[in-house]
Amino acid sequence: MLRAKIIFVFAGLLVFASSSAGADDACANLITTRCEVCHYVTRICESLGKKSKSSWKRTVGNMVLYGAQLNQDEQRELVDCLSGPSAAITDRCRK
Ligand code: HEC
Repeated sequence: MLRAKIIFVFAGLLVFASSSAGADDACANLITTRCEVCHYVTRICESLGKKSKSSWKRTVGNMVLYGAQLNQDEQRELVDCLSGPSAAITDRCRK
């Protein structure tokens, strides 16, 4: 019985770990496919850690006005990743 419980908890942890990594990957993906259409990622990286969340919200909103293809959920997700900034974004900027 105990063993089953341990396996259950372990499986739960795996699902949790892979879902948060999935969100991170999604952010890096959005940057590559929706932001780099117009400019290099360096344009984004140089502001990492400098803009507040509301400032990123304004920037992403501006990019959508310019023509970035992002729905509401994707915009919210990106703003979260950028204002963190998330590991996926800092990794993406290091390359
Ligand atoms: C349709 C073209 C286009 C797309 C797509 C685009 N941008 Fe931009 N971006 C621009 C232009 C043009 C500028 C320069 C004008 C300016 O400085 O506001 C710019 C400038 C910026 C700047 C520097 C100016 C500032 O406000 O800090 C950042 C940061 C930025 N973009 C982030 C992004 C992000 C993040 C994405 C993806 C969500 C994105 N951009 C997608 C056109 C685009």
